[in-house]
Amino acid sequence: AAAGAVAVSSVAGCANGPGVRPPKAAPRPLAIPPLAPSSRDAAGRRVVELVAAPGTSSFLPGVATPTWGYGGLPFGGPTVRVARGDDVVLRVTNRLPETTTTHWHGARVPARADGGPHQPIAPGATWEASWRVDQPAATLWYHPHPHGRTERHVHRGLFGLFLVDDPEAQVDLPSTYGVDDVPLVLTDRSFAPDGSFDEQHRNTVGLLGDTVLVNGTVAPFLDVTTTRVRLRVLNASSARSYRVACDDEAPLTLVGTDGGLLPAPRTVTGVVLTPGERAEVVVDVTPGRRRVLRSLSHDLGAVNGVARAAGADDSFDLLELRPAARLAPAPPVPARLSRETPLAEGGRTRRFVLAHNRINGRAMDMSRIDEVVPASTTEIWEFANRHTLPHNMHVHDARMQVLEPGVAAGDRPWKDTVAVPPGTTVRALVRVGPHTDPEVPYMLHCHLLRHEDDGMMLQFLVVGAGQRAATSVAGHGHG
Ligand code: C2O
Ligand code: CU
Repeated sequence: AAAGAVAVSSVAGCANGPGVRPPKAAPRPLAIPPLAPSSRDAAGRRVVELVAAPGTSSFLPGVATPTWGYGGLPFGGPTVRVARGDDVVLRVTNRLPETTTTHWHGARVPARADGGPHQPIAPGATWEASWRVDQPAATLWYHPHPHGRTERHVHRGLFGLFLVDDPEAQVDLPSTYGVDDVPLVLTDRSFAPDGSFDEQHRNTVGLLGDTVLVNGTVAPFLDVTTTRVRLRVLNASSARSYRVACDDEAPLTLVGTDGGLLPAPRTVTGVVLTPGERAEVVVDVTPGRRRVLRSLSHDLGAVNGVARAAGADDSFDLLELRPAARLAPAPPVPARLSRETPLAEGGRTRRFVLAHNRINGRAMDMSRIDEVVPASTTEIWEFANRHTLPHNMHVHDARMQVLEPGVAAGDRPWKDTVAVPPGTTVRALVRVGPHTDPEVPYMLHCHLLRHEDDGMMLQFLVVGAGQRAATSVAGHGHG
């Protein structure tokens, strides 16, 4: 940690961007993204239709901002909710003026249904992804992934939550959507004088905004009616990292991470989320006593635009919780949450050196297969950040558990996106599959969207025993 902190402060000068400013708007009720409607087709499959289209939003009083959204929302998208065991069909129609894709971040899906750069949706076209949901309850999300244009598409407003429930493994956590089980999607934006989003002023990590939006709401508050609330926090920002905490650093109960629930709850004073990461926390409240959820200073703060070495404060408010004078009692957080078997240590090691927005010295090539990975085999993937910028690595289709000194195998959180601070090496157990495809690759990339667009991404095939992996991607020849 010490080495990382030194490296971060040394780049503060070249990575400065806007710090978050106190909002110039009166507090507003937190918007809750609606649940996406679904229907059953003749085969009993759960069908969800999403349309991506331009719209107009009003984040600041009297200011109209052109935005993009899904499902009729001008900004963001409805929350898709599916259950383990469902056969799902996701049908996405593109009403945008350019080609996009829709990727199910954190979902274990066949490569052809993944929604990465090889599954483009042309303007006016509809793309269909279908698979059987087979993974533990988790807070996943969806967003575009067109190579070279992901940051702009997500920044305009294309993102939504994708919740997986597991009916066979119910635990007694608050679960009434929008009441005591509340999504918090964190994004930051700056506004140009004409009210549009500022898409010009990016620095070495990407687009950083001076205004934080939670579910698209500036200066949000939430009326709380129960003694405990579960917050599902997603960092959907391009570049900004947050340390989510209570203003008084009172303890929070961490119950879940990217890939699902923890084996047992953990008491923490804050959770750092880099772009793409999720955390589920349970917050205890007292009748009538307001609390503020804030992002507090952290080691990655320097790259958020504030030179912490100079003693600057880069903390800011996220959400005010306003408990009613009388609260319905909520049961205590259970001592056991997930019963998933941890990944067993061992297997082959793959090494990825991160420097200058390249992985092992290479930039993304749509035609090149970089790795071939056997399905349903646990490996160790090692990410060594040899540069002064932070990166965070996301592996599609993967179950991941970071090997941290002092954390027992049975206590490792489930991840799909991991921070790799400057000068550090992160080693993680990675398991992909069971879906295999010897032709269509999945992606491994930095989730700072600017870095991804710049080429900090590679492609891997997942193959079964006896399958012969293609050596290049069809339709993308080197020509
Ligand atoms: Cu959230 Cu490859 O992306
Ligand atoms: Cu990066």
